[in-house]
Amino acid sequence: MPKFSRNYLSAVIAACLLASSGGVYAAPPPPPSPSSTSSSPNATPTVPYASDDPNYPLWNPDSNIVPQPMRGTFGANILGPQNIPLELQNPSLLAPPTTDHGDVPNAHWSFTLSHNRLQTGGWVREQTVTDMPIAKEMAGVNMRLEAGAIRELHWHKTAEWAYVLNGSTQITTVTPEGQNYIGTVHPGDLWYFPAGQPHSLQATADSPEGSEFLLIFDDGTASSEDTFLLTDWLAHVPKEVLAKNFQTKQSAFNKIPDRELYIFPGTPPADDAQPPVSPQGISSLPFTYEFSKIKPANYSGGTLKIADSTTFKASKSIAVAEVTVEPGAMRELHWHPIQDEWAYFIEGYARMTLFAADSNARTFDYQAGDIAYVPAPYGHYIENVGNTTLRFLEIFKTEKYQDVSLSQWLALTPPELVKEHLQVSDETVGKFQKQKQLVVGPQ
Ligand SMILES: *[C@@H]1O[C@H](CO)[C@@H](O)[C@H](O)[C@H]1NC(C)=O
Ligand SMILES: *[C@@H]1O[C@H](CO)[C@@H](O)[C@H](O)[C@H]1NC(C)=O
Ligand SMILES: *[C@@H]1O[C@H](CO)[C@@H](O)[C@H](O)[C@H]1NC(C)=O
Repeated sequence: MPKFSRNYLSAVIAACLLASSGGVYAAPPPPPSPSSTSSSPNATPTVPYASDDPNYPLWNPDSNIVPQPMRGTFGANILGPQNIPLELQNPSLLAPPTTDHGDVPNAHWSFTLSHNRLQTGGWVREQTVTDMPIAKEMAGVNMRLEAGAIRELHWHKTAEWAYVLNGSTQITTVTPEGQNYIGTVHPGDLWYFPAGQPHSLQATADSPEGSEFLLIFDDGTASSEDTFLLTDWLAHVPKEVLAKNFQTKQSAFNKIPDRELYIFPGTPPADDAQPPVSPQGISSLPFTYEFSKIKPANYSGGTLKIADSTTFKASKSIAVAEVTVEPGAMRELHWHPIQDEWAYFIEGYARMTLFAADSNARTFDYQAGDIAYVPAPYGHYIENVGNTTLRFLEIFKTEKYQDVSLSQWLALTPPELVKEHLQVSDETVGKFQKQKQLVVGPQ
């Protein structure tokens, strides 16, 4: 038994009583510093035990209540104005779990909050590091093209990776070596263009509504406005220079647009359209990947499948895991050793706690259309807190997908060492899994 003073023990007991009554901020006081650091033959408690309070979300977006910042005996109702729909969507911010603490930067954005650029033929909205300062390594874009509409021929400084959300999109590209490539991608499929490589996007008529997709740039500051467009360039080159470059008459360029087109209507291409014959050949490296055809692996709580440069060879700087989580199940506690994660929720309701070291932890709620960002190497889980399947993408700026599973780490560490840290039984240690569980089922 460690030697704690009578006053310290009574403070701990008081804190425990307060906590078990549902108190939010009833953290026990810090322990006195040990009087001696001499060797300790058995692991003995040096700090109080963590609170046993459950910390379930107190409501969800479908709840028919006026949410209040109260958990147990802590907090108080709001007397000022309330934005009830937003509060219903974010229970973990208004009435946080008692395990949250300290300062973790905002890790939640929704495309709903992004400015939308409306064009004839479609629209585009984006999230950059300006919207969510934690998101330094990647930026996201949501784009919609009506059938036949074209996102014009362009290039940019960063690589571009995409996931098709709806309809089909036809992409074209030409490599610096003069090889060309055309591909048509369907919902759940991917494309990738290396930094600086010119390309175009066009919705086919596979769906009468056209197509919608998610784009990722491998730089948090990259904006879909910072792109080098064919029409914008030619509008800013003296016409006699254009004529000389293409060895033609200046009048050949009488009808070029005087400004960029960006997105504009066009004739839907055939799904099997072929590029012009290139003396350099068709690119041997496909710039599209039929991710939708990859069968996910099954786990006790859902499914997971990965596409990175080991399977989608062109995709040198972006990797993705597509995850489904059944109601009550969760993506297990884990982290990514060196890669930040940009996550996009496609369906369902999720809750995630980011552990940012040094006692800092914050919980966020997400729903379809939302974005999460988890810096490497923050510990986290993603729990399905709804009644329907949760589906999301974990996207990384890396050549190869990697994660570290908490359960696997502990199962492969000498059990005595683990037991001394956590004061758990052999039976509990026996539950730690030597193989990654990835998506764990409800208990
Ligand atoms: C695509 O959008 C249409 C129209 O909203 C919808 O009916 C369909 O279910 C969507 N398909 C997918 C794969 O999400
Ligand atoms: C996963 O389970 C589903 C449904 O039971 C099954 O259709 C599918 O083949 C399984 N996938 C693998 C990779 O075994
Ligand atoms: C899930 O179902 C329960 C019971 O019907 C309901 O109380 C809860 O609001 C539902 N959750 C969501 C996220 O819709």
